Amino acid sequence: MTGKFIFILGAGPNIGQHVAKKFAANGYKIAVSSRSGGSPVSEEYLSVKADLTDPTTVASAFKQLRDTWGDPSIVVYNAAAVHFGHADDAFSLSLGNFQEDLSVNVSSLYAAIQESVKGWKNLPEAFPKVFIYTGNMLNVSGARPAMLTLGVGKTAGAHLIDGAVKSYGSHGYRFYYADERNPNGSPVGSSPDAKAHAEAYFQLAEDPEQRPWDYTFVKFKGFTKF
Ligand SMILES: NC(=O)c1ccc[n+]([C@@H]2O[C@H](COP(=O)([O-])OP(=O)(O)OC[C@H]3O[C@@H](n4cnc5c(N)ncnc54)[C@H](OP(=O)(O)O)[C@@H]3O)[C@@H](O)[C@H]2O)c1
Repeated sequence: MTGKFIFILGAGPNIGQHVAKKFAANGYKIAVSSRSGGSPVSEEYLSVKADLTDPTTVASAFKQLRDTWGDPSIVVYNAAAVHFGHADDAFSLSLGNFQEDLSVNVSSLYAAIQESVKGWKNLPEAFPKVFIYTGNMLNVSGARPAMLTLGVGKTAGAHLIDGAVKSYGSHGYRFYYADERNPNGSPVGSSPDAKAHAEAYFQLAEDPEQRPWDYTFVKFKGFTKF
């Protein structure tokens, strides 16, 4: 065990990289996973390869971290997948595409929560233990037929986060479904603000109390109930 670090699953150029920068600037080591990962390991940075369409790779990724640095204190699940279907036919996707998206959006998330909780038992009491799932408004907005698998995924993901709070909140573990919104409550669409996410995620990591798990937040304002 070599000190506290954050593990970001699905660390792309936008939210993942900004969250990584924010935590690095505040003394955390950074571990990331992506399909193209597996690049350098340094004192402060570790990249592992994981294709989350196969949920069994989550345990392998956590094992790789465990064997190198120990268990992550903060875990961010940022990956998402969507095959777009027809706007007027929610059931136009092949079963294979449906399953693939649900593996990334739900099954690998489930596995990541399991692995996080398993690892937190090995960490010192003083370390924060926080899991954040990057969500959106689809868990409450109703179905959008063209992006059914994203909506099913985020809705199930929110349910998993709620279940995790109810299962492990009493252990001091904290879980969030983070959903950035515009000030009027509308969805931010395809342009989430990466810096706003980084700021919100750092605040959630630092707060020893569980805030509302369905963490709807607005850029420069923070948590906002809609
Ligand atoms: N609040 C909102 O309304 C809102 C709006 C837009 C997006 N979002 C959410 O924000 C998150 C991502 O946004 P972003 O801007 O950070 O995008 P991003 O920079 O593209 O990061 C997403 C990452 O997910 C990874 N990923 C996708 N499929 C994967 C797979 N099968 N296995 C492993 N990794 C996979 C990709 O990594 P590789 O390609 O390198 O594997 C990608 O880097 C998603 O959860 C999305 O739903 C929320």
